[in-house]
Amino acid sequence: MDKLSTLTRFKASCPFLGRTQTATLRTLCTNASPRFPSISVLTERATKCPVMGPALNVRGKEIVAGYASVAGVQDVAQIHKDQGVSVPAGATIEMCPHASAARAAARTASDLAHAAAKKAELKPDTAKAAAAAGCPFHKAGAPMPAEHPPVPHAAAAAAAPAAATSASARPGFNYEGFYVNELEKKHQDNSYRYFNNINRLAAKFPTAHTADVKDEVQVWCSNDYLGMGSNPVVVETMHRALDKYGHGAGGTRNIAGNGAMHLGLEQELASLHRKPAALVFSSCYVANDATLSTLGSKLPGCVFFSDTMNHASMIQGMRHSGAKRVLFKHNDMADLESKLAQYPKETPKVIAFESVYSMCGSIGPIKEICDLAEQYGALTFLDEVHAVGLYGPRGAGVAEHLDYDAHQAAGNSPHPIKGSVMDRVDIITGTLGKAYGAVGGYIAGSDDMVDMIRSYAPGFIFTTSLPPVTVAGAHASVVYQKEYVGDRQLKQVNVREAKRRFAEIDIPVVPGPSHIVPVLVGDAALAKAASDKLLAEHNIYVQSINYPTVARGEERLRITVTPRHTREQMDTLIGAVDAVFADLKINRLSDWIKAGGRAGVGMGDVEPEPIWTDEQLALGTPAEPHMLRDGERAFVDVPAVNAARGRFNSLLGPVAATTNTTTATATANTGRKAIDGKALAGMKMRAGAAAMMHEKMDIPVPPPDVAASA
Ligand SMILES: Cc1ncc(COP(=O)(O)O)c(C=O)c1O
Repeated sequence: MDKLSTLTRFKASCPFLGRTQTATLRTLCTNASPRFPSISVLTERATKCPVMGPALNVRGKEIVAGYASVAGVQDVAQIHKDQGVSVPAGATIEMCPHASAARAAARTASDLAHAAAKKAELKPDTAKAAAAAGCPFHKAGAPMPAEHPPVPHAAAAAAAPAAATSASARPGFNYEGFYVNELEKKHQDNSYRYFNNINRLAAKFPTAHTADVKDEVQVWCSNDYLGMGSNPVVVETMHRALDKYGHGAGGTRNIAGNGAMHLGLEQELASLHRKPAALVFSSCYVANDATLSTLGSKLPGCVFFSDTMNHASMIQGMRHSGAKRVLFKHNDMADLESKLAQYPKETPKVIAFESVYSMCGSIGPIKEICDLAEQYGALTFLDEVHAVGLYGPRGAGVAEHLDYDAHQAAGNSPHPIKGSVMDRVDIITGTLGKAYGAVGGYIAGSDDMVDMIRSYAPGFIFTTSLPPVTVAGAHASVVYQKEYVGDRQLKQVNVREAKRRFAEIDIPVVPGPSHIVPVLVGDAALAKAASDKLLAEHNIYVQSINYPTVARGEERLRITVTPRHTREQMDTLIGAVDAVFADLKINRLSDWIKAGGRAGVGMGDVEPEPIWTDEQLALGTPAEPHMLRDGERAFVDVPAVNAARGRFNSLLGPVAATTNTTTATATANTGRKAIDGKALAGMKMRAGAAAMMHEKMDIPVPPPDVAASA
């Protein structure tokens, strides 16, 4: 009998189940616990029950022990034989992703129940009362419903009349059944997504709390790559904009939702990329989808040439356009050229590609693609989503980085540098939601291209525009990063350190020249189990990345390292990953080498040079950036703060420039100074907010005790 119908049967007798609707039960048993994702919410609750908890503890241990000795057990061998599964001699539980995941779940349930029993003294009266009420779970030795049964969701839906909605009660097509079947497919191929409940704390970046506000974890996979979501001048600007303009935008850009904040940000972004114009969208997903679908449907007979590793937003945009799409092998210029050459010069063509590919960390050959585009008469569409804020002297992305010195010398001139890679790219798209720590997306390019998209793209026209407060925060962030290179440098230094330390302990990192640290696991269930274990046992949050985001067999933990992670936090991460790899017997680099390699790991490829050179990072000079230590305050750059504030003088009024007369620390490389609490206390602020703002502007690194527990 499946788990849900077992539970439904017990509803009449158990006080808890009796009060709970079947639909809720279904949700509880099919949804992963936010804190312990290898078990369901229902099981997590059960671990706290005075009688169920101990039962789970015992049963969980039995399951773990059973699985531990599974190889060689006769009836299991028979099952394998019947199912045509051949088990190699000496097979262990770790080799089976399903069994090892089930064992991990049983272990978690057992551990939790054990901990709960230790914490709260068992109250026999409660148990007796429950047993007397006839709750089957409250009878001594009562069998537990198995955790994560063979996911008979469809059957569960059928056994759940209380969950029937008006849609499923209708004659004809079974809508609810359809949803359940679609979900079932996701469960079957391990691509069902479980979302963790992670609440990043502005004052404690990169620490977050989980569903329980007291339960703090270190976040190692956020795309808030530089911690700009809690940068003091960003937060200050947003407070000021909120007070003046309130929350929402009030309408679409066409009707009441177009203001000075939006126009100011677009001008800033155009200038960042040294292009004539830019256009802001509600996200870069929307920007890519809207722009490519509009281009493809408007350009007569348009053909797209799309890198096979392109992001879903670009793929959707090209598909929506109805235009022909030709795929070329990832970063393979010979393949791209042979495909371009098959079309006449006159045919409108768009080459769509990325600068930093976020799941493997490779970098697109932008210059070479521009060469081919010029030769074959194509437009270039470059997604710099994982690069803006992070590459280049002003954070304009990899295209800017490729002419680092020229762009540094040109400073903040909005004019193009003729012949530079950034100048040669026709359309650049970026996000405000990753390194800039906000939300929103944009395109930058020629005046007429931008005006055409503005005039035709439904995804731009028919939606409420971003709130002025969000736009203001994003704008402050872009300006801050344009002015200050230190966060970018420190991030890269920390990334190098993480890669070096993983290599030292034989952890397989997909080689790449960028800031992405993809740790190969190579199996969906194992990757999820590793992520769950890191969270549950080490208070470290790294999301596992499974199909379809990466190919099957290339599942990984995608680690992002920020300039705000401390040395002590990195020690914890490295130790935890090492332990989890050992516990779950995940392949190390040397194992992949023996097996012939996978996903670029252990395949004998030469490790690419990092795109940030030692010189650009000022390594070996007195200006070399250093990883923070616990308790050390993060650096906030005063000239960058003042530049960001300056952009809002006319709209929000001036803020007195911060002068560091007190305890500010000079840095060797720039002579710039860190903002400190005392200096910020002197800021002019709206009445009543000073104390709060003071706190927010003073970015503390978690003190040692917090970091230790986090
Ligand atoms: C390459 C790429 N392009 C576009 C997007 C969409 O950006 P946004 O989050 O602003 O919608 C993403 C998001 O992850 C991405 O990875």
